[in-house]
Amino acid sequence: MTPAIPARLVAPEPGWTETADVVVIGSGIAGLTAALRLHGQVGRILVVTKDVLDAGSTQWAQGGIAAALGPGDTPAQHERDTLVAGAGACDREAVRVLVTEGPAAVHELISWGAVFDHTDGALSLTREGGHHRDRIAHAGGDATGAEIQRALIAAVEQAPEIEVIQHALAVDLLTDADGAVAGVTVHVLGEGQVDGVGQLRCRAVVLASGGLGQVFSQSTNPAVATGDGMALALRAGATLRDLEFVQFHPTVMWLGAHSRGQQPLISEAVRGEGAFLVDDQGRRVMEGVHPLADLAPRDVVAKAITRRMNQTGKPHLWLDARHLGADFWARRFPTILATAREHGVDPVTEPIPVAPAQHYASGGVATDLWGRAGVPGLYATGEVACSGVHGANRLASNSLLEGLVFSRRIAEVLPGELRDWTEPAPDRRPAGLVPGTVRRPLQQTMTAEVGVLRSAEGMKSAVADLEALASERSTEPGPDAWETSNLLTVSRALTEAAALRQETRGSHWREDHPERDDDRWAGHVDVVLRDGELVPSFHPSPATDGGPA
Ligand code: SIN
Repeated sequence: MTPAIPARLVAPEPGWTETADVVVIGSGIAGLTAALRLHGQVGRILVVTKDVLDAGSTQWAQGGIAAALGPGDTPAQHERDTLVAGAGACDREAVRVLVTEGPAAVHELISWGAVFDHTDGALSLTREGGHHRDRIAHAGGDATGAEIQRALIAAVEQAPEIEVIQHALAVDLLTDADGAVAGVTVHVLGEGQVDGVGQLRCRAVVLASGGLGQVFSQSTNPAVATGDGMALALRAGATLRDLEFVQFHPTVMWLGAHSRGQQPLISEAVRGEGAFLVDDQGRRVMEGVHPLADLAPRDVVAKAITRRMNQTGKPHLWLDARHLGADFWARRFPTILATAREHGVDPVTEPIPVAPAQHYASGGVATDLWGRAGVPGLYATGEVACSGVHGANRLASNSLLEGLVFSRRIAEVLPGELRDWTEPAPDRRPAGLVPGTVRRPLQQTMTAEVGVLRSAEGMKSAVADLEALASERSTEPGPDAWETSNLLTVSRALTEAAALRQETRGSHWREDHPERDDDRWAGHVDVVLRDGELVPSFHPSPATDGGPA
């Protein structure tokens, strides 16, 4: 019998209770923007974050934030590039919202204190894969995320109605008799009264908990990216959409076959400034593959690299950026330079070994244009969400922008939709938990069979492996077991979605169905949880990569 997906996680009864009008789960650009924008409108706001405030993915963003801010650029051009990268699977309205509201959102971020790089008094803008214009604003050269995170934390510290609980892992949503959000259980590694498992009673939850990178053995994501928000939302009745569209960044520094966990990213912006990919014979990889060559959309570059690695039998290629010179490297990419040197490679004098690794979940919790996640009182924003802007392949540097724009939208509607306080209904649904020892084999399976290159046969074997892992049981709740259980739930949902979509589109690459098939597969794959079973379904919608209507 197929082991059930748990309807809730095994956890001790809550030992303490706190109340807030709104709980924001996650403290990256999406979570803190939502909190700042809601401030003054909804009463008490609690931001809970699994580690410290700046431990999430925002801090690690290098390239920057894309918006039509430069001379000659327009939202319509940004829209076209986003739709083309998304390989026909974007939601056109969501993309329009992103690109038209993006410039004002970036200006607001600047007004909150984020300091971007300037040249001759004007915002410096660069180019990355898939963009036909220089439209990526950056900070500290290649430390954009760190600067945004710093500015947002400073702004939150000035907001008296926002409180933060760090080291707080959200376990499960509490819902009332109508199925609406009534709170969330969290586990806090703290001291004093708020310690261990407790309940945060609230009237709405904004989920901004980031991605699922730790599903794979190698990822650019930090250790906290364990798909908790997606699994929690699924258990509460939300829909996961487009989960099969996992983006593999083409140029992640290769540290050896046995390197695991978070790997160093070499930003696309390095190629934007003129770096190029070569194989072990010194042959250019991207010439003739795409008109934008080394600046082709990310899925095109990742596939070309994987093909060349398969042809040559080498575990990595090389990114050559020596010609940028020592001064330029130090000024424009200080973080990458220092990281590469820490790992024994000097990009000023030698090419950098690179290979694709997991980078971004383009899908997630399905939302409407206002971040509503299908469960009354639940909103989702940022990487945890699927707003429809990324389609089958996110355009470079659109992720920070998505978090900004859609969190602002949530703050526009949520205050008017706040429900009265209600009591959580007793939850008698079956609880489950797997031990932390399941994590490593799960990552190996997902990397081997549901990674860059997929096939029906490989995914069948992945389903069998994941089911075997799901039959292991733990009676010892704790952060490792909760995270691993979430990783397993998300892995099973992702594999179901990837197996259902029998075509190659964007970042979803099927060896057994190598062509894109708009007649059969233009649309979304949704996954819901019903009575312990994942139910995938396909919902047709017209392909959207023909440029603006
Ligand atoms: C990069 O700097 O290459 C990553 C930017 C992104 O993921 O959008």
